[in-house]
Amino acid sequence: MCGIIGYTPAQTESQPNGNGNILDVLLDGLSDLEYRGYDSAGVAIANSSVTVHKRNGELSELEATVSEESVGGYAGIGHTRWSTHGPPSDENAHPHTDCNGSVAVVHNGIIENYRELREELTAAGHEFDSQTDTEVIPHLIETSLEQGANVETAFRRAIDRLEGSFAVAAVFSGSEAVYATRNQSPLVLGIGEDGYHLASDVPAFLDHTDQVVYLQDEQFAKLCSSGVEITDKGRTLVDMPVKTVEWDPEEAGKSGYDHYMLKEINEQPRAIRNCIRGRVDEMTGSISIKELDDLDRPERIHLVACGTSYHASLYAARLFRDGDIPATAFYASEYDASAVPINEETLVIGVTQSGETADTVGALRDANSKGAETLAVTNVVGGSASRKTDHVMYIRSGPEISVAATKTFASQQVALAMLSTTLTGECSHEFVEGLRALPDQIQSILDSSRVREVVGTYVNSDAYFFIGRGYGAPVALEGALKMKEITYKHAEGFPAGELKHGPLALVTDRTPVVAIVSGKSNTEKMLGNVKEVEAREAPVITVTDSPDTVENYADHLLQIPETAWQFTPILANVQLQLLAYRTANQLGRSIDKPRNLAKSVTVE
Ligand code: AGP
Repeated sequence: MCGIIGYTPAQTESQPNGNGNILDVLLDGLSDLEYRGYDSAGVAIANSSVTVHKRNGELSELEATVSEESVGGYAGIGHTRWSTHGPPSDENAHPHTDCNGSVAVVHNGIIENYRELREELTAAGHEFDSQTDTEVIPHLIETSLEQGANVETAFRRAIDRLEGSFAVAAVFSGSEAVYATRNQSPLVLGIGEDGYHLASDVPAFLDHTDQVVYLQDEQFAKLCSSGVEITDKGRTLVDMPVKTVEWDPEEAGKSGYDHYMLKEINEQPRAIRNCIRGRVDEMTGSISIKELDDLDRPERIHLVACGTSYHASLYAARLFRDGDIPATAFYASEYDASAVPINEETLVIGVTQSGETADTVGALRDANSKGAETLAVTNVVGGSASRKTDHVMYIRSGPEISVAATKTFASQQVALAMLSTTLTGECSHEFVEGLRALPDQIQSILDSSRVREVVGTYVNSDAYFFIGRGYGAPVALEGALKMKEITYKHAEGFPAGELKHGPLALVTDRTPVVAIVSGKSNTEKMLGNVKEVEAREAPVITVTDSPDTVENYADHLLQIPETAWQFTPILANVQLQLLAYRTANQLGRSIDKPRNLAKSVTVE
């Protein structure tokens, strides 16, 4: 997720014009935003002209380019970029400027209509230096400035043209202010004695002030040496409350959550909105994935992946098969392209959050060498997987810091579910409505989950078993993986029908069984399996969308909302994430960095 920062020094005795050395404040702020993950960084400082420095790679690369210069100015902005449009490079790093270099812009989010805007601006003679969606903004501003608008009007007019999610900040040559606004992307203002700050997250300026104002959607902020002005879309002044932040800097990186894992679990509604954005046609209600326009329905599909991504692949393989495309999910480490039917009509999909997992990248390489068409479904722009495949679909989760994958699993499933509709040609009204409702439904689970009531009773259990059928089976595997990964407890997931073929021997009154029971499929059979474990005195925790059906069979019930059948597993998984997290927390485990594990496994 990109990080934005902005700063205007206050008028003080030592800097009566508010003209100070802004660079240090910006660079310090950017380093405080590093935890969000980034691939390039940059700053812009305005006085009579605008000076921009930006570099691909670590912040130290940027610092090396500016350390020789002391840039004084009235207003500055900075940015750490997490690529969404165009790979990491010096050119794609923010800030972006107009043709004259007189306005510089930083942006967090996605501009859905940037293609149309870019075509329009290019036709009008504007020249673009980057592949980003962001660069349309300074050129739009330039257009209005040329027509005689003042900087504030030009900024507002440009924002008016944008569709999508964004937090945007801009500085202008000859202007002493930072202009900013937001729509569905966070932006917070800091009111300090040394000056006025803005950032996508509080840690960026917490060293300077704990007095903050949370900007709301469609509000505009103007920061200058004499203060901060907040207005609404119609330019009416808005009086926003100033709040005191009580986090220490360590907590602040996690936005107040105890762990990145919990923060990322809570980011799922936003991650899914990002994944869906611009991919659902509002007019027709159909799904279209522009970057995959040239991908035809294949004869068969292989999905290759590891760990959590493998579980997302199991889910997707089932969706493809239900749409009549033969599909199989393989552990990437077990994929042998010479031993499976494969030709140019085969689509091999590598599902990998990091894009760097050696087994998955290796499997894609093998598939390529056998002539298959390849697609990476990934979170990291410019990662190895995306460079080695014919096509790429980004899941747009934003960086995931905790080793345990949570929000990326949800986004992978959503991305693959959308992909399945475009390849199979089957997209029901119920699917689209379910997709749109998903972020709010996840939020409702996060707000009301009763997992805490369950955890205390079972925290010292011998083992945990997870069972599900059909679309519930991959979730059972994922629930167990998450539980073992962060609690270090024995946990196993099974397709429920397999229980009686062996695992049932392990079931006792000290092994809680978590059963995913949906009222929409296999209900009777699942209840049969629940009875099997109850007969062995195992406590049963059900995750269900039909409490009336299961209440007589379960010791505990974790409810999820009803939805289209494709999305029930995604909702069920949120309860399982919380169960694993709360159990690990009670056991005092190192949740974000579990022993022996790495976020990205780059060896085979
Ligand atoms: C999940 O919590 C794990 N950390 C792990 O299984 C992970 O999903 C696996 O290593 C694959 O990673 P990738 O998605 O980056 O390829």
